[in-house]
Amino acid sequence: MTLVAGTPLDAFRTSLDHLQRDAAATLAGAVDAATLEAARVEFAGAKSGRLKAAQKLLGGIDTADKPAAGRLFNEAKAAVAALLDAAQARLAGGDAAGPEPVDVTLPGEPVRLGHLHPITRTIRRVQEIMGRLGFESVDGPEVEDQWHNFEALAIAPEHPARDPLDNFYLATARATDPLLLRSQTSTVQIRVMENREPPLRIVSLGRVYRPDTADATHYPMFHQVEGLLIEPGTTMAHLKSVLRLFASSFLGGDVHVRFRPSFFPFTEPSVEVDMEWGGRWVEMGGAGMVDPAVLEAVGYDPDLVTGFAFGLGVERIAARRYGVDDIRDFFRNDVRFLRQF
Ligand code: FA5
Repeated sequence: MTLVAGTPLDAFRTSLDHLQRDAAATLAGAVDAATLEAARVEFAGAKSGRLKAAQKLLGGIDTADKPAAGRLFNEAKAAVAALLDAAQARLAGGDAAGPEPVDVTLPGEPVRLGHLHPITRTIRRVQEIMGRLGFESVDGPEVEDQWHNFEALAIAPEHPARDPLDNFYLATARATDPLLLRSQTSTVQIRVMENREPPLRIVSLGRVYRPDTADATHYPMFHQVEGLLIEPGTTMAHLKSVLRLFASSFLGGDVHVRFRPSFFPFTEPSVEVDMEWGGRWVEMGGAGMVDPAVLEAVGYDPDLVTGFAFGLGVERIAARRYGVDDIRDFFRNDVRFLRQF
């Protein structure tokens, strides 16, 4: 490096830049202790190292520029020392050498996408179809009181549906009015009618609980879809039309809906709803005209108000839709099963 007295500071800066660049390149190529030592002598050697040579040139810098030149020299010296340390750590196997280099040409790792559970998809689909028929989707609590699960639905205290063996009662302090996990979504009919005036079109989908033994068509926790329509002049014909429209939209084909006479304390008349699709009849749920006693319980005038209600098993309709033979498969959490949908 040559520098005569009065050489501009810029030339000094440029020569230091070159020195650092050369040091970085040389040290990157150091492959063992010997090449590292040779590099150390070349750049930081006490007698004839390039830093030493640069330091000697400081004397020839203009007095006014000396402080700036001194700073530049110190920075270059520190940078070379850091490069030497890093190279030494790298050769010693330490991690101060920085992160592993990234090969940007390698193919990326594929991202495995999940999807919604078939029961969740069924719920969303039912909400969408019923929404098109004007039914608003509402929720209700899963922990219920006696009033909403039984009494307002005209299920008297001695009715077998209230039997402790048929329900999950909760061990709470409310001994006279024990709470329970709701056994049906018909509770939501009551909650909505208590808070709103007719006309009403609502649908409610959620979990219900019964101590049933699990088999291909039963599970102790399952889902129901509850529908309620309260409008003047409603008849069983409207009920059947809505269920048929729903069934053909959901199952996507030529579906028949059949009513069989039945009994529910909260509907009069009451029916079981069967659906036939692909040559097989399956019981999907219950339905009927809302009983006047229920309308009275929520403060409606049964002489002025009419409506229908229905409650279907979500696992049953999902099983039918997806060709599943055993509803327990929905809850086994076997991804090989779930991935098929
Ligand atoms: C009811 O729960 C009435 N709340 C339905 C109703 C609503 C009637 C509105 C009238 C008006 P049921 O107990 O039959 O009815 O149950 C309805 C449906 O839930 C059954 O048809 C079946 O599809 C489903 N279901 C009942 N128990 C289970 C179970 N353990 N596992 C899976 N699905 C079940």
